[in-house]
Amino acid sequence: MKFFVDTADINEIKELAATGLINGVTTNPSLIKKSGKEFIPLIEEICDIVSGPVSAEVASTDYETMIKEANKLKDIAENVAIKVPLTEDGLKVCKELSDGGTMVNVTLCFSAGQAILAAKAGASFISPFVGRLDDISSDGMNLIADIVTIYDNYPNFDTEILVASIRNPMHIIESAKMGADIATCPANVIKQLYKHPLTDAGLDAFVKDWAATGQSIL
Ligand code: G3P
Repeated sequence: MKFFVDTADINEIKELAATGLINGVTTNPSLIKKSGKEFIPLIEEICDIVSGPVSAEVASTDYETMIKEANKLKDIAENVAIKVPLTEDGLKVCKELSDGGTMVNVTLCFSAGQAILAAKAGASFISPFVGRLDDISSDGMNLIADIVTIYDNYPNFDTEILVASIRNPMHIIESAKMGADIATCPANVIKQLYKHPLTDAGLDAFVKDWAATGQSIL
């Protein structure tokens, strides 16, 4: 399973990239706003830090302008993946860019039918938003299960399932059990994965017992 980090915060990206466990980055207009930085130089900076796919989202919603924006964004770096919304125009842009060899991440997916359309449009990534479905008392993980089943039925679908809107470690674990390709996670959720109280308690005991031996390895 690949991990992307869902942030536009350079410090968070640097810190997580240093673990060697991060395979890419996803951003969106809300994360860009939160960063307070200029979009294009920021994406350039992120692409220098992470060699895997870096999602940069178009800002407009009509086909003509989205294509123009996408063509500008894809020239930032080779590892830019253009993020487009799951709309009719968005999928037209997806098809055109994918046919031309550009990675496309189709975002704001909330149904299995939408995921089928994105795969048919040649998307490199489909981003189903699990947390936002949970927020409206729907079950986000059911959507992941459905998409995994459907994509597995059609080996010619090359689209990777990029689970998005992740809010907690269980979203990651459940996605992994289902065989989703990628989880894009806020930095704090990735950090939570390291944590277990028995690890902390066990390590405390080992450190104390080792000190009591009076030995040193070095
Ligand atoms: O990048 C898309 C997605 O991960 C957004 O998550 O928490 O705003 O629903 P959230």
